[in-house]
Amino acid sequence: MSPGGSTEAVTVRVPGKINLELVVGPLREDGYHELSTVFHAVSVYDRVTVQPASRWSVHVTGPFADRVPTGPDNLALQAARALARRRSRRAGSGPVRIDIDKQIPVAGGMAGGSADAAATLVACRELWAMDHVDQDTLEGVAAGLGSDVPFLLRGGTAIGSGRGEQVTPVLARGELHWVLWVGEGLGLSTPEVYAECDRLRAEAGSTDLPVPQPSGELMAALRRMETDEVAAALRNDLQAAAVSLQPLLGEVLDTGLELGARAGIVSGSGPTVAFLVGSQAEAIDLSVGLAANGPTGDITRVVGPVPGAQVVQHHRTP
Ligand code: C5P
Repeated sequence: MSPGGSTEAVTVRVPGKINLELVVGPLREDGYHELSTVFHAVSVYDRVTVQPASRWSVHVTGPFADRVPTGPDNLALQAARALARRRSRRAGSGPVRIDIDKQIPVAGGMAGGSADAAATLVACRELWAMDHVDQDTLEGVAAGLGSDVPFLLRGGTAIGSGRGEQVTPVLARGELHWVLWVGEGLGLSTPEVYAECDRLRAEAGSTDLPVPQPSGELMAALRRMETDEVAAALRNDLQAAAVSLQPLLGEVLDTGLELGARAGIVSGSGPTVAFLVGSQAEAIDLSVGLAANGPTGDITRVVGPVPGAQVVQHHRTP
């Protein structure tokens, strides 16, 4: 608490992500699959505010608030505690209150929980003035929290390897336009989608999987930012599994393509479906068409790539 009775608080804005490519390799001994993925941060944002408090807590507002756990399972809370363990004894001590304004769909394959964790790391580093914690160290803490957290620190477009946590930026100039479809109450569990992918592969007898690698075709398309080339190169090995568990997603994909999307893809483990379009005007046409003709869902127009978690306000609260 500062002398004027006000408390410092830090607000960080963080985007959600979709996957332009998700190549799933063999199951490793640690229960994760070897991956090669291309993450792409898009313009739907959560805002996370942290401030010193008498006990650790997390509070969520926004359209998806009631679906976010606020107990010890909350990944943002785990992120704050993980970073607190790196503080020196002299540093300002004590727990924080975390406020999340949630706009990224929950359990949607857009890494919303991971985004909040990344934002919390950036906010707490600022609040606690941990100047000695560099980006590499922060990424190390992030990787311990979840496979997608390191990418949300950086944003942009990037290759994820290992289980997804090793991130390398991709050179990509310009902008892509997307229409996102998110079904209400359709949450798919990530572990279940990976397990279904393994089951479908075993059924098809495809067990000898090569080490996953990013495709040269997608890298070239991103360098040129040519919509139709990117459209042709989109790939998600989890899509068949997500559609098998939630057949409505197949209907959504078909409807979007019939309405003129350049391509449609399930994002990550789903159930968000991302449609690539060529312009803002095409995005408006497609979102109107989907709302009128497609299965019921929330429809959002976004662009990518956008930057990762960034401090937007350092302020005093009454
Ligand atoms: O790392 P994260 O907590 O996001 O992963 C959630 C679950 O997704 C894991 O427990 C695992 O079942 C599955 N997963 C996987 N292979 C990956 C990433 C996630 O099997 N590379």
